[in-house]
Amino acid sequence: MQRALDFDKTPALGVPLPFLLNVPLFALLAGLLATWAGPDFLASRWSGQTLALTHLWTLGILGSAMLGALLQILAVACNVPTPGIGRLVRWVHPLLTTGTLLLAAGFLWWWPTAWLSAVIFLAAAFLSYLATVAWGLWLHRRQVYRGAREILVPVRAALASLALTVLFGASLAGALGLSLTLPDWLGSHVLWGLAGWGGLLLMGMTFQLLPIFQVTEIYPKAMTRWLPLLVPILLLAWTALDASEGLPRPMRETIELILIACYALWGATTLQRLWTRKRPTPEATTLFWYVSMLSLLACAPLWIWMTHGHGPQASLVLGVAIIVGVLGSAVNGMLYKIVPFLLWKHAQDSISGPGRDPAMARVYLKVLPKMATYISETAAQAQWAAHLAMTLGWLLAAAGWQPARHAAGPLLILSALLLAFNLGRALLRYRRAVRAVAAVAAAHAR
Ligand code: HEM
Repeated sequence: MQRALDFDKTPALGVPLPFLLNVPLFALLAGLLATWAGPDFLASRWSGQTLALTHLWTLGILGSAMLGALLQILAVACNVPTPGIGRLVRWVHPLLTTGTLLLAAGFLWWWPTAWLSAVIFLAAAFLSYLATVAWGLWLHRRQVYRGAREILVPVRAALASLALTVLFGASLAGALGLSLTLPDWLGSHVLWGLAGWGGLLLMGMTFQLLPIFQVTEIYPKAMTRWLPLLVPILLLAWTALDASEGLPRPMRETIELILIACYALWGATTLQRLWTRKRPTPEATTLFWYVSMLSLLACAPLWIWMTHGHGPQASLVLGVAIIVGVLGSAVNGMLYKIVPFLLWKHAQDSISGPGRDPAMARVYLKVLPKMATYISETAAQAQWAAHLAMTLGWLLAAAGWQPARHAAGPLLILSALLLAFNLGRALLRYRRAVRAVAAVAAAHAR
């Protein structure tokens, strides 16, 4: 497996950044909505508020970050640049952002026009993103780095899962908007979205990035080869069983059990890798990974609880564990690796810009901050503590504990504000650094 990244292939800052900045913004919105809901927060899986919150999380926070980070990973880790990437982002980012807000508005006010507009915006965003990325994967298939082929299997499977999730979701939202009978696709929509798109992409990223950024042992070869194939096969079998009525429930539950076992195996291996990593002190990203993988392991008993007669409450807790605990923690933690690196890299690149004298490189380097100073460890760990409290608050609220229903929203607001502050300060440092380089160059020219 490839264990190095080609940072010279990093796309322009304007490619991943708008998607990544959606994370604190949508987290803030979700926090405000949860606070406003008060005692009704997560009271039922089917309430408009819960469905709006679900999509602020899955599309606004997780989806945005994953779409942005994937463009970066494909270029840097796989040597697969996305064609017309700048134009794609200028088109997809506003469509995704507006579409997500419209979908949330549709759920909140049970508003058909908003649902139908959301379908148009989100279908256009995902269709153009998926078609362009698929075209890039096909176009550059012969130049993929040898060791990156293994992560391309989960990435391709994740993209196919995203296409199915959007197809099922758009059909459901379209049916709601046109007041038609809802097709029975909700289970498939949720499963492909969380276990396919979210789970497989995260799995692929850990196979490649954890050994590099967390200095862990690499994953067992059998796991990197077979899990990304087995998971989509299980999802296909589940969907086929779900579509064909009359098949016994135990069969469906057996598939779910194997799926849970696959993810638990990956979660336990990841935890073991993190625990035995070569760097002794954990950094903020490591702590986020711990929360993510412990939440993943908690999904197994939660699933058993759900299938043994505690359906509505347990499924809410399970949903929160996956969306907020597993995926939300991993995305939040990854921001602390991706954003400082991007800002540092682009500040370094400004040294070799037009009008820069290469002989002055040492002077320019003196005015540039080091990567670690863009976001301090203390600030990142303080936000991690807020995120941990928020995750526990959301889990307890989903379990029906009344005080947590009041605390969950404010805790998310706090975590989002700290994240926004950390990212905002890093951006400010970057701007100052680029200006300082320009000032030195101007002084030298004079
Ligand atoms: C791409 C990531 C997505 C994920 C991970 C996701 C996840 C979910 C989840 C977890 C639920 C909650 C169902 C429950 O409580 O059981 C749900 C419901 C729903 N989703 Fe999504 N979703 C995604 C995208 C979309 C998109 C793009 C649309 C529409 C364009 C959409 C439309 C819907 C609708 C209409 C429902 C509710 C259906 C009903 O009331 O029966 N979703 N989704």
